[in-house]
Amino acid sequence: MDMPEAVIQSGNERAPTMSVMDAIYKRRSVRSYQPQTVQRDVITALLSAAVQAPTALHGEPWAFAVIQDHGLLREISDSAKQSISPEMHQRLPDRIKAPDFNVFYNAGTLIIIYARQGEPFAMADCWLAAENLMLAACAMGLGSCVIGLALEALNTPQWKQKLGVAGDMTAHVPIILGVPEGETPSVLRKEPELMVWKQ
Ligand SMILES: Cc1cc2nc3c(=O)[nH]c(=O)nc-3n(C[C@H](O)[C@H](O)[C@H](O)COP(=O)(O)O)c2cc1C
Repeated sequence: MDMPEAVIQSGNERAPTMSVMDAIYKRRSVRSYQPQTVQRDVITALLSAAVQAPTALHGEPWAFAVIQDHGLLREISDSAKQSISPEMHQRLPDRIKAPDFNVFYNAGTLIIIYARQGEPFAMADCWLAAENLMLAACAMGLGSCVIGLALEALNTPQWKQKLGVAGDMTAHVPIILGVPEGETPSVLRKEPELMVWKQ
């Protein structure tokens, strides 16, 4: 993705210029990252974009964790790999089964979207916030990828405690973030299956 470095580090949350449609079609799950760390002001801008998402009953149930400690990311990745069920393991591509595989693809930033348990539609709210965040990241020249494989580990009492997350919070969306390394090929979609259109 050829967004200039200046945009990535500007801290001006309105700086990127990409139409919503361009961001929707350009966003890809990025699994290869350059080593530089995403700056705090950029992450702040992305979180601000995330919370513009629609939210049921205006509940805004989300809360975020940002992890940029490489040792911690590796530890969470190791726990995530241990929590993969045999059924899931069978369905995973071979690269994910390699012993040194990092579920975060060595990205330097993980953003986890949590919500308090018991809030109606909290999961939907978190996913809408996640898509806002990923589209905004794309518009800023950053790559992202949802890492569902990490959810089970993140929701253990041990990891909540270690990260300082309250026990009544549920992790719904882990997203890695970084400057993409190389091009990410697009993954084609089926045509929308239109079942009914009554006029
Ligand atoms: C709920 C969910 C969980 C996902 N978990 C992972 C994951 O653990 N690891 C991964 O590499 N990609 C994960 N992905 C990314 C999907 O593989 C990806 O979105 C899909 O293949 C389509 O590719 P695209 O995002 O580039 O269009 C996840 C996506 C979603 C929506």
